[in-house]
Amino acid sequence: MERVIIFDTTLRDGEQSPGASLTSQQKVQIARQLEILGVDVIEAGFPAASPGDADAVKLIGQSVKTPAVCALARCHDQDIEVALKSLEKAARPRLHLFLATSEIHRKYKLGKAKAEIVRIATEKVRQARRYLKDIEFSPEDASRTEPDFLLEVVQAVVAEGASTVNIPDTVGYAVPEEFGSLIGYLITNLKDRRVVISVHCHNDLGLAVANSLAALRKGARQVECTINGIGERAGNASLEEVVMNLHVRQDTYGLFTKIKTREIYRTSRLVSSLTGIPVQPNKAVVGENAFRHEAGIHQDGVLKKRETYEIMNPQMVGWPRSELVLGKHSGRHALAARLKELGLEVSGEQLERIFNRFKVLADRKKEITDIDLIVVAEEETVAIEPVYQLEYFHILSGSSTIPSATVRLKKADTVYEDAARGDGPVDALYKAIDRLTGVRPKLKEYKITAVTGGQDAQGEVAVCLEIEGMNVAARGVSTDILEASAKAYLTAINQYLAKKNISKKIYRGMRP
Ligand code: KIV
Ligand code: ZN
Repeated sequence: MERVIIFDTTLRDGEQSPGASLTSQQKVQIARQLEILGVDVIEAGFPAASPGDADAVKLIGQSVKTPAVCALARCHDQDIEVALKSLEKAARPRLHLFLATSEIHRKYKLGKAKAEIVRIATEKVRQARRYLKDIEFSPEDASRTEPDFLLEVVQAVVAEGASTVNIPDTVGYAVPEEFGSLIGYLITNLKDRRVVISVHCHNDLGLAVANSLAALRKGARQVECTINGIGERAGNASLEEVVMNLHVRQDTYGLFTKIKTREIYRTSRLVSSLTGIPVQPNKAVVGENAFRHEAGIHQDGVLKKRETYEIMNPQMVGWPRSELVLGKHSGRHALAARLKELGLEVSGEQLERIFNRFKVLADRKKEITDIDLIVVAEEETVAIEPVYQLEYFHILSGSSTIPSATVRLKKADTVYEDAARGDGPVDALYKAIDRLTGVRPKLKEYKITAVTGGQDAQGEVAVCLEIEGMNVAARGVSTDILEASAKAYLTAINQYLAKKNISKKIYRGMRP
């Protein structure tokens, strides 16, 4: 099996994504993680673009040891000089030169004829080669260049000592069969077979990964890609997708990479949080939903054998585990599994009742959380006679007032009233209830959801309280969220009082 070199350009092309500007320190942080991930080459920046870019390339060169650190430069003396300077301290420096070769770029952007392009490219590669052994050359817009001219340029720069030639699909115009054929054509006709042919695909038509894989089939052995597929316009080929394709479908590609796949998820999240570019939920490999199952049939399958609906083990890419999302499509098996995980033991009959209520709830809410489940399970498994009933409450709150609450509760036939101040209206309300009941709960979770739409939306408040080591959860529904808050809190306290002598329950690993 042959190895594919992973050239990561998150810090160069990726940083060209609109709005994704990173500080030098943030770039170093990402570079260190890319080293842990096991990439072969880090393209650290375009030093001639700005002093900040030059500084980042320099810092990265000093901070990572294993990967080659690469700086991009146009075929201009000034660019080459600045790039070489930034790479001075790097353990394994690489210079990446580029010059456009397609007719449209020659004519409109550069105003240069073919012969001049060849002359400049060869001259600059020769010049750079005097200072550095590791030179990569990219004929920009290669996929739209006449193939015979492209071959001429490639032969010429290889003859001058370029050790890698990168074929960019700069504008994401290529289609897999055509791009694969172009790579095959270049490799078959190249005189020097030691050169590494690389590809760099953009995603304008959503084909960056497919084009990269097609090129690998035809002999390319380096892929330029970015974490989460970020990059200029629609982005670049996504590293995690290329790598996992080669990994999962080794049977068809017969290729491998040095990437530590378990670091993929962590790297993806780091890049997303530092660049501020979110990962779309349905993104392959690293999207929030990539290992979540909602359909009942799927959940049942996954519970019986994970591989029925998963082609990758989530842990293989660093996800903690696959997740069964509880929603309206879920079935009994997934519900029972989650209840068990939470440490809630229910009989078959109780499960049936909980399931029916769960379905009604799931029609109103997009996703059922653990706290929702606990509340329903509590209500179905513990029959309680409420000790306290809410008679009345009054809240005083505003921008220049310390929030206070007056609450009246009824216990048997007696009515009790008290008041308290708090950090906010809900806090004041809960403090007043505490004073009246003499119970001192710790509020572990408090969640508000609008359960119906429109101006008169019903608000649902779900709370989970810890009282003397016992967890109780309850909810309250009202058009007034303060009333819903009071109801939920009081119901939880009533549950505690009812269950006090029955058992102590701990909910395990609750998810929000
Ligand atoms: O897309 C492109 O052509 C590039 C080159 C500089 C390699 O990013
Ligand atoms: Zn690019």
